[in-house]
Amino acid sequence: MSSAPRSVPDGYSRRRRTMIGLTAGVLSVAIGTLLACTPSTTIAHRHDAAIGGPTAVTSAGSATAHQHPVGASSSATSQHDSTTGPSHTDHPTATTSTGTVPSVSVADLVDPDTGPADVTVRLTAERARIVTSTGRRIDGWTFNGTIPGPQITVHVGELVEVVLVNKDIDDGVTIHWHGLDVPNGMDGVAGITQNAVRPGETFTYRFRPSQVGTFWYHTHQESVVGVAHGLFGTLVVLPATASPGLDRTLLAHTWSSSGKQDQTTIGLDAGLATSTVVTPGTAVRIRLVNSDSLPQRWGVAGVAIRVTAIDGTDVRGPTPLTRPTLVLGAGGRYDLTFTMPDRPVAVGLLDGNRPAQVFSPNAGGATPTVTGGAVFDPLSYGSAMSAPFTMASHYDVEAVQKLETHRRYRNGFVTQWWTINGKLAPDVPMIMVDEGDLVRVHLINASDTVHPMHLHGHHVLVLQRNGVEATGSPWWADTVNLQPGDDAWVAFRADNPGIWMDHCHNLNHAAAGMLMHLAYNGVTSPFHAGHGNVSE
Ligand code: C2O
Ligand code: CU
Repeated sequence: MSSAPRSVPDGYSRRRRTMIGLTAGVLSVAIGTLLACTPSTTIAHRHDAAIGGPTAVTSAGSATAHQHPVGASSSATSQHDSTTGPSHTDHPTATTSTGTVPSVSVADLVDPDTGPADVTVRLTAERARIVTSTGRRIDGWTFNGTIPGPQITVHVGELVEVVLVNKDIDDGVTIHWHGLDVPNGMDGVAGITQNAVRPGETFTYRFRPSQVGTFWYHTHQESVVGVAHGLFGTLVVLPATASPGLDRTLLAHTWSSSGKQDQTTIGLDAGLATSTVVTPGTAVRIRLVNSDSLPQRWGVAGVAIRVTAIDGTDVRGPTPLTRPTLVLGAGGRYDLTFTMPDRPVAVGLLDGNRPAQVFSPNAGGATPTVTGGAVFDPLSYGSAMSAPFTMASHYDVEAVQKLETHRRYRNGFVTQWWTINGKLAPDVPMIMVDEGDLVRVHLINASDTVHPMHLHGHHVLVLQRNGVEATGSPWWADTVNLQPGDDAWVAFRADNPGIWMDHCHNLNHAAAGMLMHLAYNGVTSPFHAGHGNVSE
C-alpha cells in the first residue's frame, strides 16, 4: 500500500453497495437486451487450411445483411489435426475432430459471482474542455471530466464493478481493460463482446483481477478516434499486502493538432504538479503507461532504477540500470523502482517537448536533465527461471503474423494499407484454438514501420527475437513492440475462452486493417460490426 493516500475519484466507493443496486440485476438485463438484438453467429470453423492458406469461408452469420463480427474467413493450423475444410452450422453445437464442442456466447463468458462487488466505480463518458499541462485547450472526450480518467486502484482478487455511463459521446463508447485477462464478455470490444454504449445508455463491467500490476483502460469503440480524444485511464492492481512507499503512475499522451507542434503531456491536467517532494530513503515505484499510437522513449536522471514489471508482470531479479533509454511501445507499461536519494530525480520523455516529472528531497536543488543511454532490452534482463514452455516445446497450434505495408499511389495521393499475412481486416483468417491448446505465433515485421502487436485476453511469453532466444526473466507481454525488420516467436496457453482481438496498437494501423482475431472453437458472438459498432 502506498504511503500516499489512495485517491478516491468521484463516483468511487469501496466495499459498499452504493451504486443503487447496480449489480447482477442490471448486468443481466443489459446482456439480455443485447442478446435479443441480432441473430447469432456460430463460429465453429476448425483447421481450414495451412498457415496463411487461401481458404476463405463464409460464416453462417454473414448470410444476413450484417457484417460478420470477426471477419468473413477463418483458418488455423493444428499439428494434431489434419482435417481440412471448414465446418459450420447453425446448430448450437459443432462437431470437430476433437469431439463435440458445446456452443457458448461471448455474452455468457462472465464472472459467475453475482454478489456484491468489493470495489464499485462509475465512469461517465462525457465531453469536457480540458487545458493540458502544456497549456493547450482540448475539446476532450473524458471519463468523469478528466483526462486521463480516474485511476482505478484495486487489490488482487477483489470483485470490481465498473458502471460505464455514456453522457454525450455520440459515436458511442466501451471500456477495454488493456492487459487484464478478464472473461471475454467483459473485454469491451464493440461489435464482438458487446454493443457500443450510446448516449444515455449504461453498461456494467464486473471482473476479479488475478494479476497484480499496471494496466490501463480505454474505449474500444472506434478507438482510433476515442483514445486520441482522451477516453482512457489507468488501472492498478495491488497485491493483497502492498509495499509502503510512493506509488505514482505516469501516463504520457501526445496531442496532435495541425499547424502546431505535437505536445506530449504526462498526466494532462493543467493543475497537475510536475514536482513531488519525497523523503530520502523512500521506496518509489513509478508506473509508466503509453497511451499513444507510437513508441515513447523514456529516461531517468539522478538515480539508477530497476524495471520491476513489464506489461503488468513482475520481472525476476531486476538489476539496476543507470541512465537507460526505455522504449515503451504503444499500449505498453514499465514499472520502475528506486530508493529516493538525497538529490532530485527526473523521469521524463527523451523526445519532442520532453515533459518530465521531478522527485526531490525538498523543494530546492537543480533539476537533472533526462538523457538517454543504452536501450533497455527485456529479452536479456533479470534472472532466468524455467518457463512453462520454450522454443523446443510441442505446440498444438502454430500461426504466423506477417506484417506488411502496401502503398498505392493514385492521382498524387498515397493510400497506405497495413496487412497481416497479405490481408486486411476483416479478411485476415482467425487463429482457431481449443481451450488448453499451447499456441505459438511467429511475428514478422516485414514493413518499414514499428508495430506494437496486442493480443487481448492473454499474455504471451516472448521466446525468441531476431534469432536470439530469451535469456532473462521470463518476458510476458500483452503488447509486443516490433521494430522494422524484427521477428519474434511468442507463445501462450489458450486458457481464456472467447473471441479476442489481436491487433496493432498503432490504432491508425488497426483501423486501416491490421487486426485479426483469436477464436476458441464453439464460442459465438451475438454482436456485429456495423449497427454503429466499430471495434477499432
Ligand atoms: Cu488497448 Cu484492442 O486494445
Ligand atoms: Cu502497426
